Amino acid sequence: MSIHISANKEEIAKVVLQPGDPLRAQYIAENYLENAKLVSKTRGIFYYTGLYKGKEITVGASGMGFPSIGIYSFELFTEYDVDTIIRIGTCGAYTTDLKVFDILNVENAASESTYAKYAWEIEEEIISNQGNIFDTINATAQELSLQTKAVNIHSSDIFYRKDPNIPAIATKYNCPAVEMEAFGLFANAKHLGKNAATILTVSDIIPTHENISADQREKALKPMIELALESAIK
Ligand code: HPA
Repeated sequence: MSIHISANKEEIAKVVLQPGDPLRAQYIAENYLENAKLVSKTRGIFYYTGLYKGKEITVGASGMGFPSIGIYSFELFTEYDVDTIIRIGTCGAYTTDLKVFDILNVENAASESTYAKYAWEIEEEIISNQGNIFDTINATAQELSLQTKAVNIHSSDIFYRKDPNIPAIATKYNCPAVEMEAFGLFANAKHLGKNAATILTVSDIIPTHENISADQREKALKPMIELALESAIK
């Protein structure tokens, strides 16, 4: 048990898939894992462990934003000896160069957040994915004939803002899209010497307000979920 996860230590696998949404974790467990067992439900943040093609995998939520993913990923890495976390989430595109349903494998996450600086004295405002799992995801996507784009992402604390223009940091680091967790996950993994990747499906095109509707979401996220699972068992 850790402060925010009530599973026993041996109930969490070495590889964890981490969507933001607890109900997404439940969906993945129920539809993709054999013998899935709910191992933690503290604060409604569900963690399930089961088998995917014979290998033990845990899927559990991060919640939204750096404070939340910072807590869950840190406890998974340090209290449960997790080696690898693959975040699977959605993002908003800043430009129409990206399309809804596009799948992104995050190379670097840039942020205005002070999370990495004040948590770990990491001064950089851009942090790369950690370890080999990013490369494994690229190779697995090729095997699955799934098109993915390697990009930098803007990881932001802010969902609603006054200024409609693209934030300066996104322009500075050539980030075509925004989400709210990768930078925190990469900072924790970097500090702890662990493996971390982030796969995102584009759910919104910010300038045109086009988005994946609620009833399209389940189907839309399937390729990303399968890519993460196939990469996790490599
Ligand atoms: N902003 C931040 N995070 C997001 C967005 C967005 O527009 N869409 C999906 N995740």
